[in-house]
Amino acid sequence: MYKVTKAVFPVGGMGTRFLPATKAMPKEMLPVVDKPLIQYAVEEAVAAGITDLIFITGRNKRAIPDHFDKAYELETELEARGKTALLDLVRNIVPAGVNCIYIRQSEALGLGHAVLCAKPVVNNEPFAVILADDLIDSQDKPAMQQMTELFNYYQCSILGVQQVAREETGSYGIVATQQMNDKLGKVDRIVEKPAPAVAPSTLGVVGRYILTPRIFSHLENIPFGAGGELQLTDGIARLLDEQQVLAYSFDGIRYDCGSKLGYLKATVEHALQHKEVGREFREYLDKYCQGLVLPE
Ligand code: UTP
Repeated sequence: MYKVTKAVFPVGGMGTRFLPATKAMPKEMLPVVDKPLIQYAVEEAVAAGITDLIFITGRNKRAIPDHFDKAYELETELEARGKTALLDLVRNIVPAGVNCIYIRQSEALGLGHAVLCAKPVVNNEPFAVILADDLIDSQDKPAMQQMTELFNYYQCSILGVQQVAREETGSYGIVATQQMNDKLGKVDRIVEKPAPAVAPSTLGVVGRYILTPRIFSHLENIPFGAGGELQLTDGIARLLDEQQVLAYSFDGIRYDCGSKLGYLKATVEHALQHKEVGREFREYLDKYCQGLVLPE
């Protein structure tokens, strides 16, 4: 019986939809209120019992390792000023017993290529893949924990999926499934970004995966696909020929923070829930919507 203890965070994309904000900084460092997207993703992995965090970084790589590293100067300064709550906050971003590993993806050759870069560290174990720009809020259990629990039972690859609007199938990997119940299905087929008219369903794969290590040999043997990139979807399509792959409709709300609109929705909704500013922000928004906020 295998357990998932490793998570891969591909953070080497170009983030062109957020230029110029992403000119010198990875989009995964964009904050939603006061935490960068990548920290939400790491917290989700840690809640699922994952202990090895493998970041596949690209250009502008420094901000992410710096964020998860010790910040001597800042900590000394906070200590000297007696700001113990803030000191705890920056010291405990990565809990004890959790390791951060960084691998450089030398060129942004696609999500499949980024995942393949993790092979020397993942070895022969199942592993999670978390795309930090898909921010998922769940009421009870974080999405990755729901998936690792399923993995403990089924011991096979699992894709996090969500119903998408038919006109949006061209933005997702779309799966055709044989449903086992309303949340879980066996994947028969997966297609990268099909046009609405030919999409086999409207179940779209979003940024949560648990994959068996067999995926690596498929990624090594497939040609570069759409957009000249090595597509993870193409690797999964090959995996399907030899192993069961499940599609799981997780409980939770997903914000597509790779797009401006999704990022703005996540920001507003997290701000409304925020302990420190939530109440005042709600009052402000109410006034704004009633046209009562006047420019100063
Ligand atoms: P996206 O498809 O969102 O691409 O990548 P992108 O380059 O990050 O953003 P846009 O479309 O130009 O705005 C999905 C995920 O895969 C990672 C990204 O960092 C993101 O988390 N990725 C993509 C890599 O790590 N390496 C790549 O070569 C491509």
